[in-house]
Amino acid sequence: MTEKYMKVEKIGQGTVIDHILPGRAFDVLRVLGLSHDRSMSILINSHSKKGGKKDILKIEDVELSAEEANRVALISPRATINIIVDGEVVKKFNAEAPNVVRGILTCSNPNCISNQNEPVASEFRHAPDEGHRYVCSYCERDIVDLAKRIRY
Ligand code: CTP
Ligand code: ZN
Repeated sequence: MTEKYMKVEKIGQGTVIDHILPGRAFDVLRVLGLSHDRSMSILINSHSKKGGKKDILKIEDVELSAEEANRVALISPRATINIIVDGEVVKKFNAEAPNVVRGILTCSNPNCISNQNEPVASEFRHAPDEGHRYVCSYCERDIVDLAKRIRY
């Protein structure tokens, strides 16, 4: 039998972020701000068992905190977080959109106080009942495309 898809090994310890929207794994990496010396596997447009495509991120030897994991929802609301210990999934949960996001995104308003040379970290609030919308706590400006507003 020929191998149809490239296989990526299971990990012993760490975190697997599964069911990431296809093509968004790099944005997920950026929003997590993980240091580049981490051992990771990134699968892009992997064929999902349920049909369709997905990205998967496997980060070895790191157990993401709930706060970090929930940042993933900014990019990919339906991603699942799997904590792996000794090769087994010991915890599985969905990334949940955080109510408040501090310091990770930048406001698109150049006059916003968070964009001046003041020690003011950016802060965005999740707008209730309006899906995936975040609003600047200082100037009330909306973020239209979250992935474009991730601070480098
Ligand atoms: N995984 C891994 N290393 C392990 C265990 C699991 O890389 N030691 C990965 C699997 O390849 C999968 C994800 O972690 O991408 C979740 O594993 P599992 O719960 O076993 O898979 P499913 O049942 O398919 O998950 P779901 O129901 O969430 O789709
Ligand atoms: Zn602002």
